[in-house]
Amino acid sequence: MARVVLGMLGLGTVGSGVVELLAKHRHVTLKKIAVKDINKVRTTEFSCPLTTNVNDIIDDPEIEVLVEVMGGENPTLSYLEQAIKKRKHIVTANKEVLAKHGPHLFALAKEHGVTIFFEASVAGGVPLLSTIHKGLEANEISSIVGILNGTTNFILSSMEAGKSYEEALAEAQALGFAEADPTADVDGFDVAYKLSVLSALAHRHFVKPETIYREGIRTITKEDMALAKEFGYRIKLLGTAGKRDEKGKEIFDVRVHPTLVPLEHPLASVSGSNNGILVKGHAVGELTLIGPGAGKLPTASAVVGDLMNLAGALKLPDFASYFQPVIEASPASATPPDEWKCPFYLRLVVNDTPGVIGKLGTIFGANDVSIATIIQRDAQDKEATIVILTHDVLGRNMNQAIEELKKSDFLKTFGNAFRIFRSA
Ligand code: HSE
Repeated sequence: MARVVLGMLGLGTVGSGVVELLAKHRHVTLKKIAVKDINKVRTTEFSCPLTTNVNDIIDDPEIEVLVEVMGGENPTLSYLEQAIKKRKHIVTANKEVLAKHGPHLFALAKEHGVTIFFEASVAGGVPLLSTIHKGLEANEISSIVGILNGTTNFILSSMEAGKSYEEALAEAQALGFAEADPTADVDGFDVAYKLSVLSALAHRHFVKPETIYREGIRTITKEDMALAKEFGYRIKLLGTAGKRDEKGKEIFDVRVHPTLVPLEHPLASVSGSNNGILVKGHAVGELTLIGPGAGKLPTASAVVGDLMNLAGALKLPDFASYFQPVIEASPASATPPDEWKCPFYLRLVVNDTPGVIGKLGTIFGANDVSIATIIQRDAQDKEATIVILTHDVLGRNMNQAIEELKKSDFLKTFGNAFRIFRSA
């Protein structure tokens, strides 16, 4: 195998893991690493120079591959553009920059005859992208549904074991899973970016992240977790990237939201910081991959796997087209939540007075919401908790019913409304 010279942007958790794994690969030489703060105390041993000037890497003609593990949208985008224009191949773990600028970056790479490898951008150590891109090439993939964020899965697993959301988040932060500002994870941004990347591979279009319906885990309570379990479900933050053709039009069903998953479903048993992904292909049927979706060495495993692939092919003529997926230049928009049909779970606190269930039924009936199960709990001091599971209902109808409930004279507190898993 020919010797390949790399430059790397970033030496945080993932970058340190890459350095550690690369120490065993002599045909790959890490020549320089660009960092923000050269004086930061680092525990990782590295033998190449550090620089704070990214151009030391981008302008170095000996460096053939840029490993980008600094993350974020800016200034990363501009570094990637400059490197591609200098005909450097890219290996990146950056789902945000791909989700927001993927069509542009892939077009630029094609123009300059280089490739972008991005296995580490989704599901960390789980070889999900290569499975979809190469292993399942013979398939039309209708949907990818999964737990794509380890931090929130860790928090939800801790809540199931009895912790409140705040306690579980603090625990995740103390263990280094969650950031000090957990927004990207707990509000679903991280999953939305990953879904856009998955759509590009499976359905040939990145999906504009701002069109992806996003509901995070902040409002889930211990009570919801316990009630879901009583009904035979576990609450998971699920991402869906589906595509179907309707009357000649491509419909992109791409969304992230808490979902009640039946306890016997494979995704319900994915616990802690693991990821679990179910891919549905017309030939293979359903395939489930489970494994570490984040962390130093699992993510570095994906980065270095890409580097090995690239190093093995780099000197072959015209290898770029073999690795580069076909992705259309125009990003797609996801369908709005109004259009999807699925069952719902609702938790409400109402006045415990005669006629309340009748009024509730009237609001639901008027909006075409059909109740599958209803229970009343904790009736005391003229208040009661009501839990409802519905049959399939259109998002628009459920939202309208919820609006009317919120204006009603019998509702004390609106608890939560979550979707129940429905096979795509
Ligand atoms: N923060 C992500 C997670 C890992 O918790 O899964 C990087 O995408």
